[in-house]
Amino acid sequence: MRRKLAAGNWKMNGTKAALAELDAMAEAAKGDAEVLICPPATLVDAACGKGVLIGGQDCHAEASGAHTGDISAAMLKDAGATHVILGHSERRMDHDEHDEHVRAKCKAAWDAGLVVVLCCGESLAQREAQNTLDIIGGQLAGSIPDGATGHSLVVAYEPIWAIGTGKVPTMDQIGEVHDFIRSRLEKRFGEGVGRSVRLLYGGSVKPSNAAEIFAVSNVDGALVGGASLKAADFVPIIDALNASA
Ligand code: 13P
Repeated sequence: MRRKLAAGNWKMNGTKAALAELDAMAEAAKGDAEVLICPPATLVDAACGKGVLIGGQDCHAEASGAHTGDISAAMLKDAGATHVILGHSERRMDHDEHDEHVRAKCKAAWDAGLVVVLCCGESLAQREAQNTLDIIGGQLAGSIPDGATGHSLVVAYEPIWAIGTGKVPTMDQIGEVHDFIRSRLEKRFGEGVGRSVRLLYGGSVKPSNAAEIFAVSNVDGALVGGASLKAADFVPIIDALNASA
């Protein structure tokens, strides 16, 4: 059985005062679902030990060296992180990250013992051109190294046009992509591994739409941006996940 996962991506938001939000989230994390918060790198150390899992939002592909401003997977691990988000569309766009970069980072994260939350998703133009599944298939093939397991990999489907826009795909659209991701993982890594990787939906998840999204087949949780910043928004999402079948 796949354990449900409610993940929050704080992006470039939050100073030390924001850590107070973790208290109520930690209460909600006492249910069946795992709860993960990925704060900015400056807060990873201080956020650990507060009752929720903590992850980074990116890491470098190399273990150390002359890369000003970057952090390595081992540094995240040393600070107490257990997970790292890789290949988020904002990194792909802001930092010109391509599948081969994401793949190298993924290997580095696994070498350091981190669980990777690998993001994929199409733009609006790609969806309108009916290229969604081709794009997702290419991202999965290019970004995930060989050797993935259900313990080392989580895949998040985040349609770019749904991120921070309030627009959400139909439940049929989410189901179609999640079923496709599941089948691709089963084909490449074998049925056992393919079935054990958790698949998250991300893009304008909020308390009002969470239950409906969690009822879609092959949705094992969510990767939440804006609504993960405040416990008042994120706790009802965690509760909805705990209440889902
Ligand atoms: P929003 O939930 O703010 O749309 O962001 C989704 C996201 O990008 C999470 O990684």
